[in-house]
Amino acid sequence: MADQLPEENPRRAFLKQSSVLAAITLTPKTVIRAAENGLDERVAEAFEKMPLNVKINGSARQLSVEPRVTLLDLLREQLHLTGTKKGCDHGQCGACTVHVNGRRVNSCLTLAVTTEGKEVTTIEGLAQGDNLHPMQEAFIEFDGFQCGYCTPGQIMSAVCCVREGHANSPDQVREYMSGNICRCGAYSNIVDAVMSAKNGGQKI
Ligand code: FES
Ligand code: FES
Repeated sequence: MADQLPEENPRRAFLKQSSVLAAITLTPKTVIRAAENGLDERVAEAFEKMPLNVKINGSARQLSVEPRVTLLDLLREQLHLTGTKKGCDHGQCGACTVHVNGRRVNSCLTLAVTTEGKEVTTIEGLAQGDNLHPMQEAFIEFDGFQCGYCTPGQIMSAVCCVREGHANSPDQVREYMSGNICRCGAYSNIVDAVMSAKNGGQKI
């Protein structure tokens, strides 16, 4: 004879039932409907988006974003500004560095909605028309890259490193650029490029 399943503890059954009821009560109807129809991918879409007014590379943008979306994903997936790279997606490599109100940030750790009313600059917004930014010129002149994957983040970070006054020596550049990892190991050329741009007399 098959073993009988032990009767469920009534208290546990009650708690289980009330948790389900609470979840149903707290879930928006649109989400429940999407889930009932088996349209899992539409569940995420059913959550409300938020308006976002932000200036990106000098252009005022009126956007609509989910509150959970990072600035990195907004730039790459929604606005197709793919110059900003996704490396670790955990704040550990610096490949996603952009400027928000002139300060360098890891866009993978920044929720897009927190940029409301702010100015975001990406690598695409650094050059002036056909004229590259002096830091971009210096990276080319000193071969500050190999595969180039980390380079947009390195350049965005380097610009702020100079503006912050943290590029007074190669050691200082190494310290203040330490959040930007280069798997190709182009570090010595990167430091040379940053020092050259800083001492080049052009406005960074
Ligand atoms: S992708 Fe943001 S720090 Fe690595
Ligand atoms: S140039 Fe390849 S990761 Fe830096």
